[in-house]
Parts: sequence; structure tokens; C-alpha cells
Amino acid sequence: MENVNNFRVQEKRYKCPGDLVPDLSEVLDTRDPNSYGYNNLQAVRPDVFTYSKVPGLIILKDCVSPDLQKYLLKEIMFEQLQDSKNKTNLSPFYKLPLETDSIWRRYHDGRECDLIEGIPPTKPATVERLIQKKLRWVTLGEQYDWTEKVYPDPALSPPFPTRLASFVEDLVQSYTDYPKWKAEAAIVNFYSPSDTLSAHVDRSEEDLTLPLISLSIGLDCIYLIGGSSRSEVPMALRLHSGDVVIMTGPSRQAFHAVPKILASTIPSYLLTESDQWNRWIQTKRVNFNIRQVRNS
Ligand code: OGA
Ligand code: MN
Repeated sequence: MENVNNFRVQEKRYKCPGDLVPDLSEVLDTRDPNSYGYNNLQAVRPDVFTYSKVPGLIILKDCVSPDLQKYLLKEIMFEQLQDSKNKTNLSPFYKLPLETDSIWRRYHDGRECDLIEGIPPTKPATVERLIQKKLRWVTLGEQYDWTEKVYPDPALSPPFPTRLASFVEDLVQSYTDYPKWKAEAAIVNFYSPSDTLSAHVDRSEEDLTLPLISLSIGLDCIYLIGGSSRSEVPMALRLHSGDVVIMTGPSRQAFHAVPKILASTIPSYLLTESDQWNRWIQTKRVNFNIRQVRNS
């Protein structure tokens, strides 16, 4: 049965439109001792788990404080998004950033109806639509080239945000065998409840044994992680705001995917800002996916 795409079967099982909720009866949830597979979790320390069926995977439950979650979201939306050196999926299509009058600032000021100029043949779009629907990713530090599938000359890249770097570098130092690991590049993914990320392995970094960090803020999601081929049945894990997953050892090169974002799961501590802010984060999962790119 080597050729059966068992990964695809599980992706289909969880994928469903918008606010619908799939069957969660076989989803491991670190917050629910009665959830499926919970008995296969090993608590290395309180709130730090490994899972026997996915060797090398480390799950850090509630690892990012609410204050740090808010700091990281604001840094991305108010600062990093304004730096034209940080590529976004919108860069080829819209005149961004607007430097002193950023897209986000316009949204936040309640000027949602303002139009952002498109780069022809792209038509202009409202600030609201860009922020809420069209922004899918921004890259930090070394800027990945999606066409060539390489990381270009590091001398050309903006510095990696320092607080995020030191936070995740401390985690890697504490929980893995790679004390000198450096945060050099990140993709920040923005998901709404209908968005998914299909099965893949991240293979563009020079040393594929170095850990990969995934930090989640916002809505809960279902994260699938299997093995080195799509024939291996993946495990389904529910990730919450503040969770960090470290993919190290064999799990670093395991297929993984995000087939479902769970609507209406936003923690109340993220809803303490302006109406515009709350309206945005209420329907978003923001994932910081962080790598060391260069061989040390
Ligand atoms: C990625 C990735 C997972 C997630 O960006 O490569 O696997 O949890 N993201 O969003
Ligand atoms: Mn990935």
C-alpha cells in the first residue's frame, strides 16, 4: 500500500468551508486529556510534549504570553508590513507599502473605503479587502524567492526582528540539540477560516536537519504531520493561540499541512484593541514559521 496518499485522505477529511467544523473526534488536543491520542503524548516538562508516533516533534503548549502575542502581531502589522524590503504576496500587484501612510494605518484609522492602487492589470482594492482577505503572507529576514526556490544574497535582506529572534532562539536552545541555532528567515502566514495550506516539506534551507519553528497566534487550527512520504497516515493536532511547535529530528522533513482553521476560537485577550483590530484578528490565524537558512 506504499503508493496510497493517506495524507491526502486526512486533508480531505478536515477541509470544509468557512465556519463549518469538521469531526474532531480523532484530533489530539493538548488542552483536553480525553482527546484522541492524548495517551501517546509524553510530557517532557509541564506543557512541553513529545509524541511517540512523530519522532522529533516538540509541542510547547501556551508558550507565548498574551503580551508577547500582541507585541508580535502589532510589530508585523504596524512595522514589518511597512518595510518594502519585506516581501508580501501583495507586492507584485499593489503599490505597497505606503511608507508614512501604511495600508494598516489607513485601515486602523477607519478609512477602510480608501483604495490602494493596483499595478496594472490589477485593479485597485479597498484597504479593508487587502487587510482582511488578500494579505496571505509576509517574509522577514532573509527573503525567500518563491520562483527560484532559493534564499538570495543575505547581504540584501533586512535584519530579523530582534525580540522574535531571541524568544525562539532561547526555545531552540532549551529544547533541542542545536544551541547555536539562529532565526534567519520567517514566513508569516495569515489564514482566514476558509484558507488551507496543503501538504509539503520545507526543503530550501541549506541544512535540513536544523530545527524549524512554528508559532501560532489567533484562531485555532488543525495541523497534520506525518512522515517522510505521503503514504504515512498523519496525526491531527489542534493548535491554539500561543502554542509553538518545534520540528526537529525526523519530523523536520516530515510532510505537514493545515487543512482547517477553526472559526470563533479567538481568545478574549486578543480582542482588547480598536474595533478595526478586533474585526481583523477575530477571523485570523497568524503563523510565524521560522528557519535558520545558512549552514553554521
Ligand atoms: C509553512 C508551514 C504551518 C502553519 O509556512 O511552511 O508549514 O502552521 N506553516 O501555518
Ligand atoms: Mn511548512
